[in-house]
Amino acid sequence: MKILLIGNGAREHAIYKALLRSKHNLEIVVFGKAKNPGMLSASSYELGNIEDLDQIKLIAEKHSPDLAIVGPDNPIGLGAADVLKSLNIKTFAPSKSLARLESSKSFTRDLLAKYNIEGNPKFKVFTAENSDEEILSYMKNDLDEEYVIKFDGLFGGKGVKLSKEHLETLQDGLSFAKECIAEIDKVVIEEKFIGPEFSLICFADGKTIAPTPIVQDHKRAFNGDVGPNTGGMGTYSDANHLLPFVTEEDRQQAIVITEKVQEALKHETGEDYCGVMYGGFIKTKNGVRLIEFNARFGDPEAMNILPLLTTDFVDIVLACINQKLDSIQVEFQQKATVCLYIVPESYPDGPQMPDQDLVIKVEKTKTLESDQLQLFFSSVDLVLENDIEYVLKMSSSRALAFTGIADTIEQARKNALEATKCISGKVNFRTDIGSEFLIQKRIDLINSFQ
Ligand code: GLY
Repeated sequence: MKILLIGNGAREHAIYKALLRSKHNLEIVVFGKAKNPGMLSASSYELGNIEDLDQIKLIAEKHSPDLAIVGPDNPIGLGAADVLKSLNIKTFAPSKSLARLESSKSFTRDLLAKYNIEGNPKFKVFTAENSDEEILSYMKNDLDEEYVIKFDGLFGGKGVKLSKEHLETLQDGLSFAKECIAEIDKVVIEEKFIGPEFSLICFADGKTIAPTPIVQDHKRAFNGDVGPNTGGMGTYSDANHLLPFVTEEDRQQAIVITEKVQEALKHETGEDYCGVMYGGFIKTKNGVRLIEFNARFGDPEAMNILPLLTTDFVDIVLACINQKLDSIQVEFQQKATVCLYIVPESYPDGPQMPDQDLVIKVEKTKTLESDQLQLFFSSVDLVLENDIEYVLKMSSSRALAFTGIADTIEQARKNALEATKCISGKVNFRTDIGSEFLIQKRIDLINSFQ
């Protein structure tokens, strides 16, 4: 079976590794914007602009894959699945219309409202027709100055700003809202929820969903959840597939929201959703609420989830495409995971580092690539690989990640932290992800609700 995998980040490396574990005889073609050192064993590796649908079409025509998997949000949001399906290629990714679930925040809020699905905050969509006074009054009077402003399109994870955290005054809020409107003529302003967040990622075939272990991401750059927002500095999951502060009942609420949204999407568009529905949820004092949906695997979450998958990934993908997800069991090891991203010292906002400082080494240890530890490459070029080490050149983004795997979060964290010792170079990473201290903070927050 020939598979075209689009994307070259750590998420796609996690997908690639899941493909390598498949019992199917696979020929993998990767189409990425750079060479991921972990995916060089692919049968073919095509370089190009994965956000250019014409290039996707050319690569697909050249290789005629049996199956295509699209990893990142941008090609999915632009309609990569529509192009691939027009060539009769079975594709694991939603269409452009369905991917509005992620690419348009107003679409998803309106969808939940229209189909009476629980989980929405109080929200309103503003356009250039609205006056400054209307926007200010909504933030001040309707939302009591506790608000979230969302750019109504893909913004590389940076299109969401919160009052008091990124927007100090109402005027700051108004300026950002107007910036969004100027760009795309729409902005969503909504109530700010308080509580710990969690990710529930589900496989979806348009009719059935199959949930994966719950994961918690850490957006802030530095220990203690401080510093600028990033693409995600690390994640953890627990052996029971819940989190110490997320109960089975909470999980069920998130599952029900995801199921209802899948059904609503079918009503709204007439199309079946095939791919990944990634719900960002928050546990508030009034129950589980939806922050947003994404139409792809989370990054880093994919690196927690996919290493634990015991069901053949290709079978799951085929079941999603053939709308047969209800006929297979999607199963995971009962293990905890902690994933730590290693980033350049300057990440995310620091000054450009000199070229020589971007070169790092990763020593190959005994446990690297074992049932206790997995290495995933992200934005790095391979300079050299031999029996003892990788020499890599970082860009300005997240470079690589280690996932520790064990029976407990504590041990998984130790495994991941131990792995960071094999790196030399000018890097940063968070040491507190999965720590008792941070977990207790989430539990204390929930206890404060009572
Ligand atoms: N975990 C954050 C993201 O994938 O967008």
